[in-house]
Amino acid sequence: FGLQREVGARLEGYISSKSVNEENFSDDTSLRSGGDNSIYSGGGVHEQEEPLIRKSIVAEKILQRKSLQIRNKQQDWQESPEGQKMLEFRRSLPAHKEKDALLNFITQNQVVVVSGETGCGKTTQLPQYILESEIEAGRGAACSIICTQPRRISAMSVAERVAAERGENLGESVGYKVRLEGMKGRDTRLLFCTTGILLRRLLVDRSLKGVSHVVVDEIHERGMNEDFLLIVLKELLPRRPELRLILMSATLNAELFSSYFGGAPMIHIPGFTYPVRSHFLENILETTGYRLTSYNQIDNYGQEKMWKMQKQSLRKRKSQIASAVEDAIEAADFMDYGPRTRESLSCWNPDSIGFNLIEHVLCHIIKKERPGAVLVFMTGWDDINSLKDQLQAHPLLGDPSRVLLLACHGSMASSEQRLIFDKPEDGVRKIVLATNMAETSITINDVVFVVDCGKAKETSYDALNNTPCLLPSWISKASARQRRGRAGRVQPGECYHLYPRCVYDAFADYQLPELLRTPLQSLCLQIKSLQLGSISEFLSRALQPPEPLSVQNAIEYLMVIGALDASENLTVLGRNLSMLPVEPKLGKMLLFGAIFNCLDPIMTVVAGLSARDPFLMPFDKKDLAESAKTQFSSRDYSDHLALVRAYDGWKDAERHQSGYEYCWKNFLSAQTLKAIDSLRKQFFYLLKDTGLLDNTEICNTWSHDEHLIRAIICAGLFPGICSVVNKEKSISLKTMEDGQSSVNGQELKIPHPWLVFNEKVKVNSVFLRDSTAVSDSVVLLFGGNVSRGDLDGHLKMLGGYLEFFMNPALADTYLRLKKELEELIQKK
Ligand code: CDP
Ligand code: MG
Repeated sequence: FGLQREVGARLEGYISSKSVNEENFSDDTSLRSGGDNSIYSGGGVHEQEEPLIRKSIVAEKILQRKSLQIRNKQQDWQESPEGQKMLEFRRSLPAHKEKDALLNFITQNQVVVVSGETGCGKTTQLPQYILESEIEAGRGAACSIICTQPRRISAMSVAERVAAERGENLGESVGYKVRLEGMKGRDTRLLFCTTGILLRRLLVDRSLKGVSHVVVDEIHERGMNEDFLLIVLKELLPRRPELRLILMSATLNAELFSSYFGGAPMIHIPGFTYPVRSHFLENILETTGYRLTSYNQIDNYGQEKMWKMQKQSLRKRKSQIASAVEDAIEAADFMDYGPRTRESLSCWNPDSIGFNLIEHVLCHIIKKERPGAVLVFMTGWDDINSLKDQLQAHPLLGDPSRVLLLACHGSMASSEQRLIFDKPEDGVRKIVLATNMAETSITINDVVFVVDCGKAKETSYDALNNTPCLLPSWISKASARQRRGRAGRVQPGECYHLYPRCVYDAFADYQLPELLRTPLQSLCLQIKSLQLGSISEFLSRALQPPEPLSVQNAIEYLMVIGALDASENLTVLGRNLSMLPVEPKLGKMLLFGAIFNCLDPIMTVVAGLSARDPFLMPFDKKDLAESAKTQFSSRDYSDHLALVRAYDGWKDAERHQSGYEYCWKNFLSAQTLKAIDSLRKQFFYLLKDTGLLDNTEICNTWSHDEHLIRAIICAGLFPGICSVVNKEKSISLKTMEDGQSSVNGQELKIPHPWLVFNEKVKVNSVFLRDSTAVSDSVVLLFGGNVSRGDLDGHLKMLGGYLEFFMNPALADTYLRLKKELEELIQKK
């Protein structure tokens, strides 16, 4: 229990060091952009908001003079030759025709919903129209427009574009702010930022003092942050009658948003795109001649065989819609870039199954098709990086005199992302590998060919900005259409869908809003850290509120792990967890890894739990693969420690240039290990950046201590725990059917009384995914709520828990522990 005090003290320490740090997140410090910032220091004056300043004649004079300066400067630019050219371009955009209507709507209504085809000029033009009209009206220096973007890269690239259109440098009247980076200055009046930044701003400034317009872009994506922001803004609007809210969306589901804001007026910007021809997998195989040539090309073989087989089974069950969906999902599981289903496992060829087809299609385009850039939609940056490596090694695709190969994803450097907009030299084919962010939020003008893998990470993992990584899943019909549309911006285009038509038919029409498909635990922490009152009440006001039961589950979970106290207040642990953009259980593990100075292995475990399982289980070599995995566990009954050893071994092999052999020999996926590697790096910077890692020199002092690592794993995974009944009774441990396996699956005798596990899955009977055996004392000290400080509660809960799992095999342990617990309670 000295330990508990220690943890408590360390966490408290973090909080106090963090309170200084917190300013980094709020908008107002703009540490990196330098200079004071009138918008954010409250000096961005809005007449209604600052009666004191209104009284000050001097201040008003200054404002007027400034507004005039801004106007004159703009006029000079528009009269210059480049300015003229830019103006001409801007006038050619579909949004221009609606400019007056848009501005009228905005003046007359507090909330306006704007929709329009991607590329029609919503993001770059509309906020600019507002800025220009404010400047015209002599309020140039007084207005403050914030336009939110769901992703860092779009906030940055759009700001840059708008500044260029205005003949300015970034940080003059137009700026951007994303987490840890920003460019804005004293005179910035139009700020593009991520939705997360505006939410953080609301933390310190509940009424958005000084802000005149908020533009929320890309609302059709229905991201968690955007839905969340809308609840907050809806509540704010009556308190700020002068504040204007503009919601912008690419697709036509504007009614939903309009009715949420009491029937706010909608305006649609009509657009134009050229026709795009769709090729589904069946046509692609035919037209590109991607065929089985020899049995050795096992991936090709797998691809085709799988598809044929599943298509037959789909036909058979055509009438049953629900199972057709399931079948379709299974049917194209081989597109998951890795052997996942039984059949594809039998033609095992790690990492290359989907990539080879993409490579083939790209070669086909280069050799046979007309000029024009190619946009490839992938699921995430790990896939993009691996594919890029593979393509770079290809004789044609890796030849820089013929191909300009670029990546485009949220976590890349801004200098790198600019390249994707440039036109390549004649004879060079531009190929951009992108995540679904290229669907709506950025426009690459010269794209004529689109290659669509059909999947997206529902929430791609961006440690700096986003919520945790989820597995790739099928996109919606709306997304597929949107992806296809990217090919028809400048001339008729072609879209290669790397999945059969029948799979497309089974896609959902629209994607479910993120709020309804992700665990709510992180969100609940966010609500609490923003002091938005009761979680259930707050969430019931959402556009599409989540099930009350899932909200309740999330709250109870947070109480059990000690992030919330019994009256739903944030604990010290909870406050720390709310700063980490990972699931609370993973955050807790990272935090404890940092506190107990065994960070490296814990980061590997957490990265492993966020990524896919790197242990491959080919169907026909299952025994071999299982024994390979068992080697890593060295009989210590932990899947997590096995992963740590496998990863460490791989790092070592990589240093000796033998990473690939190592993976092959040990049935490991190199691609997943690479993903784990980069996640680890992100975790490290995240912890350092949020001030949760106070001394990087000693953070690995105890990394070799496996007992400690086990305990930290328990701290994170609790209450994911079950008692070990060595075979026969109650929850038995089985290997997962879908090719997953646990080192604990085959054990007849596990010498520890408890197993902590990451996931419990019900298929006929209960299966545990990734488990680690732990001792009584570990559960006692690390299971549950160590940092709450409420010792009684903790011990009672643990007592009740033991009772719950009481079974004859554990009677002795139970009685002993119960006695110990009672003594402890008495002593306290
Ligand atoms: O937001 P929306 O999709 O309606 O369009 P936008 O992002 O405002 O882009 C309008 C036009 O500006 C596009 O058609 C592009 O041609 C151009 N644009 C550009 O050339 N460079 C950028 N970085 C962004 C946009
Ligand atoms: Mg846009």
